[in-house]
Amino acid sequence: PSDTGRVLSIQSHTVQGYVGNKSAVFPLQLLGFDVDPINSVQFSNHTGYPTFRGQVLNGSQLWDLIEGLAENDLLHYTHLLTGYIGSVSFLTTVLQVVDKLRSVNPDLVYVCDPVLGDEGKLYVPQDLISVYQQKVVPVATMLTPNQFEVELLTGLRITCEEDGLKACNTLHSAGPRKVVITSALIEDKLLLIGSHKKAKEQPPEQFKIEIPKIPAYFTGTGDLTTALLLGWSNKYPDNLERAAELAVSSLQALLRRTVEDYKRAGFDPSTSSLEIRLIQSQDEIRSPQITCKAVKY
Ligand code: ATP
Ligand code: PLP
Ligand code: MG
Ligand code: NA
Ligand code: MG
Repeated sequence: PSDTGRVLSIQSHTVQGYVGNKSAVFPLQLLGFDVDPINSVQFSNHTGYPTFRGQVLNGSQLWDLIEGLAENDLLHYTHLLTGYIGSVSFLTTVLQVVDKLRSVNPDLVYVCDPVLGDEGKLYVPQDLISVYQQKVVPVATMLTPNQFEVELLTGLRITCEEDGLKACNTLHSAGPRKVVITSALIEDKLLLIGSHKKAKEQPPEQFKIEIPKIPAYFTGTGDLTTALLLGWSNKYPDNLERAAELAVSSLQALLRRTVEDYKRAGFDPSTSSLEIRLIQSQDEIRSPQITCKAVKY
């Protein structure tokens, strides 16, 4: 038994650096969750480096782990978290995992980061898109796409805030009650847009958080954002705004620390992809000061 919850987190593992499970497990543990990671890949480092090596887990290997847990009655989860998934067969197995976990706990919360690409670039096979649209989105409790992913999932172009809100409505009608567009560049501003459909008959509660853009490129921040949103929205289940303020504020504190540390070591943070200073930011993760406020629509 656990006070906060037990999360099954199916994501990438990198030996060095913080993406996927490496950027999600530690913060969720700090927020009090038991976290059980399944590593969908094990790579030496993230794919933004000149090279990487390692292994990829396939769908039947994933299912084998689930059966092992089932045999010992160990499938009691409050949350399932998924991120980057590289093949249709693995994604189809994840759908089986959702069913299996919900047969044990019908209230299982499924937080899905539908990782498809970023900034106009697709980084999964094209045929994953329709599986997300038709099968995954309908069973997700909370969805955390970026701007490009929302466009791919809804077929809508997002060039203004209104477009973002409409796309959230479209996603709600497909399934998830909570939708967070984790980053969107709209009219030169970096925004997070949140939308919580509390009841079927009512319009969703929608808000934005404007994020001060740091002139640097980070990896692992999308995965960290989704993990923090899971963590804080479990504490504030009826207040997605609050959860998002906490998630964004602690992330911004971590990013400022990351940039400062690189500068102190003599690097120019605007010239290369930065590894986030996750472990060093544990205080900001455990008890963030709200510095980024939400604005209701
Ligand atoms: P996914 O990983 O699902 O593709 P994403 O594209 O939204 O999601 P990021 O682009 O890493 O992931 O953005 C996630 C969050 O990280 C943003 O909401 C923002 O808070 C923070 N972030 C990332 N890059 C920056 C930056 N250069 N300046 C300020 N904040 C940033
Ligand atoms: N997983 C792996 C293996 C990666 O190489 C990357 C990025 O390079 C990611 C996940 C995504 O990280 P982010 O949270 O920045 O989207
Ligand atoms: Mg992005
Ligand atoms: Na995202
Ligand atoms: Mg990303």
